[in-house]
Amino acid sequence: MNAIPFTEELVARLAGARRVAVLTGAGISAESGVPTFREPGGIWERFRPEELANVDAFLANPALVQAWYAHRRAVVEEAAPNAGHLALAELARVVVARGGSFVLATQNVDGLHERAGSGAADAGTLLELHGSLRRTYCADCGADAGAGALDALAAGAVARCAACDGPLRPDVVWFGEELPAEAFRAATRAAQTAEVYLSVGTSAAVYPAAGLPLLARDCGAYVAEVNPRRSDIADELDEHVAAPAGVALPALQDRVRERAPAGW
Ligand code: OAD
Repeated sequence: MNAIPFTEELVARLAGARRVAVLTGAGISAESGVPTFREPGGIWERFRPEELANVDAFLANPALVQAWYAHRRAVVEEAAPNAGHLALAELARVVVARGGSFVLATQNVDGLHERAGSGAADAGTLLELHGSLRRTYCADCGADAGAGALDALAAGAVARCAACDGPLRPDVVWFGEELPAEAFRAATRAAQTAEVYLSVGTSAAVYPAAGLPLLARDCGAYVAEVNPRRSDIADELDEHVAAPAGVALPALQDRVRERAPAGW
């Protein structure tokens, strides 16, 4: 008996798919101890996006915004990828080893998919649609400033570019900014061509990323959501897997690995 509430249809479709694509959100990192945004106790309950996550807030008070991102980076560097991250990397290896393609687009900036092995040569493509806390650059000249450039500043001090003295910023997408164009194009193509699409741990509230599972559905993919709660778009998808990602994804990956690919 299958204790996890996913269907045999999802297993069979994943086992037979040449093209699999995935969108993840903060929920996949919840079991690693990284706070989500919109749940009780989430980041946007304690902080206001307009005070921290946009360029005007940054220019008005770079030290405050830099300190907040340095704190978030410290939290994620302390965290480790969980069974959900690892299962997606493993599922990618299974699909790629069978000659298929696997594209994982994430809204997360925590770097945990990369640390779990996603995007490695044998584990498909990883697209970071909202950037990464692990990179920083100069807001004035664009120079790459390295991973830890915002860390260990004295309170109130501003981290500045060695080349032009401009303020350094995290390489994350703030409200009002465009997603990285090439990554979003690739994520869109993957949604348009996927046979199976998984939407994992996202409230699907922030566009354009939230539109990807619906685009995949419109283009003919079988779309399943993995989330203990139903997201805003759950009713429009083919299947809702009501379980934490760290439980559901390893079980799903095991079942797909066991099954021979059907009819390629
Ligand atoms: P949210 O905080 O909006 O949603 C997190 C989702 O994860 C919720 O639907 C939860 O039910 C679900 N969840 C919680 N624990 C889970 C678990 N163990 N397994 C699976 N799902 C779980 O986070 P996002 O959808 O990622 O953007 O938010 C999207 C964007 O909004 C973020 O990338 C960020 C934020 O503003 C920017 O900063 C640009």
